[in-house]
Amino acid sequence: MLHLLALPLLASLAHTSPAPGRALERAGIVGGQEAPGSKWPWQVSLRFNEQYWMHFCGGSLIHPQWVLTAAHCVGPEPMDPAMLRVQLREQHLYYRDKLLPVSRVIPHPDYYNVQGGADIALLELQDPVNISGRVQVVTLPPASETFPPKTPCWVTGWGDVGTEVHLPPPYPLRQVKVPIVENSICDAQYHTGLSTGDNVQIVQDDMLCAGTKERDSCQGDSGGPLACKVNGTWLQAGVVSWGDGCAKPDRPGIYTRVTHYLDWIRQYVPEEP
Ligand code: ARG
Repeated sequence: MLHLLALPLLASLAHTSPAPGRALERAGIVGGQEAPGSKWPWQVSLRFNEQYWMHFCGGSLIHPQWVLTAAHCVGPEPMDPAMLRVQLREQHLYYRDKLLPVSRVIPHPDYYNVQGGADIALLELQDPVNISGRVQVVTLPPASETFPPKTPCWVTGWGDVGTEVHLPPPYPLRQVKVPIVENSICDAQYHTGLSTGDNVQIVQDDMLCAGTKERDSCQGDSGGPLACKVNGTWLQAGVVSWGDGCAKPDRPGIYTRVTHYLDWIRQYVPEEP
């Protein structure tokens, strides 16, 4: 319901099952390890009321009163803010919840499905949060930043640790370092094994690819941040959006390219806290 729309382009591959033998070595997001408590202070968890406030997507704090996430988490018809809560950075999901109410849900107006792009959304919190050691905002990149291959980038979340393998209790936040894959290479990789014509673009210009057959984000990480260290500063390069399974060969994770949407974000989110 909340995610996993029909993906016609990849429908032929959608039922591929995970390689069972690899599940054990997957500690993560996919690959990777538990995040140190001091890292990723902008990571948030989005909660939906289904008997309890269940995690369904990630997000990032980009301003004391604003969360960046994926449109497919809360759209295309904007979710009722009353159905939604935000949990700021916590080490283990559900263990010390302090859920925050949301006043506005704003999916990008161009979003209709993940393969069409514009998979980005903003959530306004009812009240601004206190910025502390554990809770901080992540910096948005300058418009000119392309995040070339070799940029050190990490993706974080409480999502699945393998295709259809859920993160087990106590649900620690996980991190994995993922290499950026240049758009034209990623697009060529996504064409391998598909009958989609080479002239049909799969990886759009507002997307960014990162990951390998061992390292990736996965279901439940959506909406969360891909953060890259550039000149000593962590910048949010991407928003977890989609992929074909998780951590499969020739199928890097696909992220919404944040630089593409800076003007849209700035229509709502002030520069100054
Ligand atoms: N759409 C997924 C979600 O709702 C995220 C998929 C990311 N996939 C990947 N291979 N990186 O959580």
